[in-house]
Amino acid sequence: MERAIEAANLTKYYGSFQAVKGVSFSVKSGEVFGFLGPNGAGKTTTIRMLTGVLKPNSGEIWVLGYDMLNEREKIKAREKTGIVPEMANPYVDMTAMQNLRLMGGLYGMSKREIEKRSVELLKTFGIYEKRNVKVRGFSKGMRQRLILAMAMIADPELYFLDEPTSGLDVISARLIKDVIREEKRVGKTIFLTTHNMDDANELCERIGIIRRGELIAIDTPEKLKQLVKGRVSVEVSFEPMRFDPSILSSALNVETMGDKVKIYTDNPDKTVKELVRYAEEKNLHIVSLRTLSPSLEDVFMELVGGRDD
Ligand SMILES: Nc1ncnc2c1ncn2[C@@H]1O[C@H](COP(=O)(O)OP(=O)(O)O)[C@@H](O)[C@H]1O
Ligand SMILES: [Mg+2]
Repeated sequence: MERAIEAANLTKYYGSFQAVKGVSFSVKSGEVFGFLGPNGAGKTTTIRMLTGVLKPNSGEIWVLGYDMLNEREKIKAREKTGIVPEMANPYVDMTAMQNLRLMGGLYGMSKREIEKRSVELLKTFGIYEKRNVKVRGFSKGMRQRLILAMAMIADPELYFLDEPTSGLDVISARLIKDVIREEKRVGKTIFLTTHNMDDANELCERIGIIRRGELIAIDTPEKLKQLVKGRVSVEVSFEPMRFDPSILSSALNVETMGDKVKIYTDNPDKTVKELVRYAEEKNLHIVSLRTLSPSLEDVFMELVGGRDD
């Protein structure tokens, strides 16, 4: 199969408020596709439509070749899909193992399959020792790992993950990212929403950027970065930290960041030379000096315009 997800002109209103405005995209089979946007942009609304939780007001959705607006086909698509909803919670009065059994049962797996797969997943996520402990006693990170394990129980071919690492401790977030990479490696398709630029940059092969319900860009992270090619920057730190921006003829913009200065430039060679000359003249020690390509954050700021809406 070529396309795992196809969305055409998706539109969703809450009352008279239009949360998603004619969004169209497709996700290739085997791809990690990131849906990136600030809070309130319409990511969760979109993922809920894609997974058949919400009905769009208009538009079309195909998941694994099934028409999601047809109830029967929707069920067939869901059998092959693992879903991590936004802020999901396992049942806290049940143990990790019981939660996995419940989920495996919903997917129609046999008892033996469920036991075998659960042990594997509990080990992968580092919660095997806690398998018979009630989830009530789990930290947020452990709960989210269990949620991921539950989504993976039936070895689905496609995942929908809504901010899977949001607000987690570093170790849980790292573990979840490693698992996402491993699932990609074995050929799974992953649709992931995030407001975290670093996660999108690390994990995704293609990214759609959504803002106020509109898809404003869609491409690979590197190609998105080329959109702001002029925004190369040079970061420098002097000891003692003294700096006069007026010495630079090559700077487009200067930002002070803690003990460093970041200089945006379209001529990094000239900027570096000017900085070195300045340090020599003023007898300053250069603690660090590096040239930075535009980050996905730069792209995002350029497209979203710095407004957090
Ligand atoms: N059930 C709802 N009723 C009314 N408005 C909603 C509802 N859910 C979300 N919204 C609004 O729709 C917009 C998009 O929300 P959401 O899809 O949750 O964004 P994101 O996941 O990108 O943060 C926001 O302005 C939000 O306040
Ligand atoms: Mg959301």
